[in-house]
Amino acid sequence: MTLAAMHMPAPFAVSAGSVLGGLPTLAFSTRADGDAAVHHTPVLVAETVEWLSVSPGKVYLDGTVGEGGHAEALLDASGPNGVVLGIDRDPRSVDAARRRLTGYGDRARIVHGNYADMGDLARQSGIEHVDGVLLDLGFSSRQVDAEGYGFSFQRDEPLDMRYDPVGSTAADLLNHTDERDLADVIYRYGEERRSRAVARAIVEARPITTTGLLASVVSRALGGRRGGRHPATRTFQALRIAVNQELMHLEVGLDAVPGLLKPGGRLVVISYHSLEDRLVKGWMDREAARCICPPELPVCACEHEASVRFVRRRVVRPSAAETDDNSRSRSARLRAVERI
Ligand SMILES: C[S@@+](CC[C@H](N)C(=O)[O-])C[C@H]1O[C@@H](n2cnc3c(N)ncnc32)[C@H](O)[C@@H]1O
Repeated sequence: MTLAAMHMPAPFAVSAGSVLGGLPTLAFSTRADGDAAVHHTPVLVAETVEWLSVSPGKVYLDGTVGEGGHAEALLDASGPNGVVLGIDRDPRSVDAARRRLTGYGDRARIVHGNYADMGDLARQSGIEHVDGVLLDLGFSSRQVDAEGYGFSFQRDEPLDMRYDPVGSTAADLLNHTDERDLADVIYRYGEERRSRAVARAIVEARPITTTGLLASVVSRALGGRRGGRHPATRTFQALRIAVNQELMHLEVGLDAVPGLLKPGGRLVVISYHSLEDRLVKGWMDREAARCICPPELPVCACEHEASVRFVRRRVVRPSAAETDDNSRSRSARLRAVERI
């Protein structure tokens, strides 16, 4: 059984136990391939190549290959014979990356899967160790804008939100979770301070099966738009994270990295919100530390060994030119460590 599958039974657990285990799945996912016109602009590409220290003939794993923008840069910088194994949970992203990278032949190996299973996926592709791992987290602009994902309140469509169209949808979660657990999900994964009011309004308006209805229910509960952000932004983020178990997969994926990287190999992670970035920073701090004992212990008792070192302590942020060109890059933060 894959690591990602082993972690499936507690999909939306925010306290003890599962709040959604065994729910019926609403079957309204019709993901027509209407993606052709929608593209994702990759973020911090030159910086990724630099901090991964990409060089010819090396082997890289891109755990979130998306449309293959970063993978293409890695293939170019590792030519003529470097290899990139690209993984994505979304079958439509896998198709898009394969189309884009077809000219690289066997140097680009694109597989459908979860980066939480990166060790197994690498071995199945004939790769034991790699010189670099990239995780460019979250969703792509194509997934936000294309039809059928239900990630955004910009278009009214079924409330799906799954990268991989199997298992429970956001509508399942909203319509079958009790009010308290729902409030916890929205508070924890959306950092929505008024999560209880939002959860109450959702429960009163159930069933909610479309993005448009959810956006208007949340907006009403929060008293309409104040400032630039849509009031439902945090709730949508929370549901996406919960439906896809994003933070749990990130933890499992990060833990797999030291076993996969060659000594001197690097990990680069690009995150887009504070929950992800805090988790990544905490993992890197812990893995780079010689001792992880509580500070009140007078002598070390943990026998922890550092597996990585920082190649740069501070985050890398996009330039003003990049944020002007691509507003999605504004929230991006890149962190990098090196295997000892
Ligand atoms: C920001 S996009 C990556 C864009 C990509 N770097 C590019 O240049 O096109 C993030 C991608 O990660 C995928 N994803 C999210 N969680 C994943 C997971 N646990 N395992 C594998 N892929 C995942 C999404 O489907 C999405 O395609």
